[in-house]
Amino acid sequence: MPEDFKVTPWEVTGDIDYDLLQEKFGTTPIDDALKERLSRYGELHPMIRRGVFYSHRDMVPLLDMYDKGERFVLYTGRGPSGNTHLGHLMPWIFNKWVQDTFGVDMLFQMTDDEKFLFKDLTLGDTSSMAYENALDFIALGFDPAKTRIILNTKNIDKLYPMALRISKKVTFSTAKAVFGFDNSTNIGSIFYTTLQSVPAFIPSEEAGKQVPVLIPCGIDQDPHFRVTRDVAPGLGYPKPSLMYCKMFPALNGGDKMSSSDENATIYTTDTPKAVKKKVGRAFTGGCVSVEEQREKGGNPEVCAVFKYNYYLFEHDDEALNEMATKCRNGEILCGECKMCLTEKINVFLEGHQDRREKAKDVVAGMTYDGFEW
Ligand code: TRP
Repeated sequence: MPEDFKVTPWEVTGDIDYDLLQEKFGTTPIDDALKERLSRYGELHPMIRRGVFYSHRDMVPLLDMYDKGERFVLYTGRGPSGNTHLGHLMPWIFNKWVQDTFGVDMLFQMTDDEKFLFKDLTLGDTSSMAYENALDFIALGFDPAKTRIILNTKNIDKLYPMALRISKKVTFSTAKAVFGFDNSTNIGSIFYTTLQSVPAFIPSEEAGKQVPVLIPCGIDQDPHFRVTRDVAPGLGYPKPSLMYCKMFPALNGGDKMSSSDENATIYTTDTPKAVKKKVGRAFTGGCVSVEEQREKGGNPEVCAVFKYNYYLFEHDDEALNEMATKCRNGEILCGECKMCLTEKINVFLEGHQDRREKAKDVVAGMTYDGFEW
């Protein structure tokens, strides 16, 4: 039977079966034993407790090294193709928790080159979006003394020698097999995965010894990092470890928030009014009439409003369970839940927008190798 979903670094469609995806990619579940181990370093993040970050590669050796005093470096990134939305913030919020919990340095790569190659955008578009997206990243509170932002087109002199060494180890047939490229693919796209691999090796290159790296990100990025991990030993670098999250859902009930449906997407720069309107139109698990819902109850499992609480906005497990129970019993109706979520998002965005403004003062100081925006 053909699968009715697709997950690649450039396209996510359909109803994603995350267990099947994990199996196909060959990643490992974040199971109770790993959760227990992670809880020794600090209170578990709700995204781990709830299985939003649900899959990994090589977390055990990374933690073993950490316990022996070997610090890892965090690495994640963003392809700047448009305004930042809540779906982008989700893995970054998790990265911030890792930085705080383990006290580690962080690299954030902005791939303006990638979005130029894969989308109908100019380099001017993608580099100005990079600046805007960087403000959102910084607004989450990453430690400016421990965090560096790479912008590919600006830092290419530093990235290129390593990208070359990587590219010599990746054949066209690997790129075709991993990414589904064909003869009509532009040749920049074929080379691109080398650039996404480079930051995984920068810490080792800079230290002149093997430094472990942890990359928490969406599971859609795994194809790149399979390539990265394959070439690592041949270049004398350790394979990076990974923690993968599910895609942040869309407000219309779809599996991934995407800028292609603006009404189902909440941007970090949205006004309270826009948020209210978008949440007001969200897909829920409610019934067609109030009477029916009071009698039969709703279904939080399919409800976008509930999912937003689950993924991001309700950290308290008890409060979340109560929400689900009351919904199933018909005690709360969709209108109330929508109002409540609108309020939570707007409170968050008010603070975020404020911090985003302040980020303009520090963004210049957080660039890798001191490039100018
Ligand atoms: N390819 C990613 C995107 O499209 C950007 C990216 C670069 C990235 N390096 C990364 C994402 C490391 C996660 C981890 O958004």
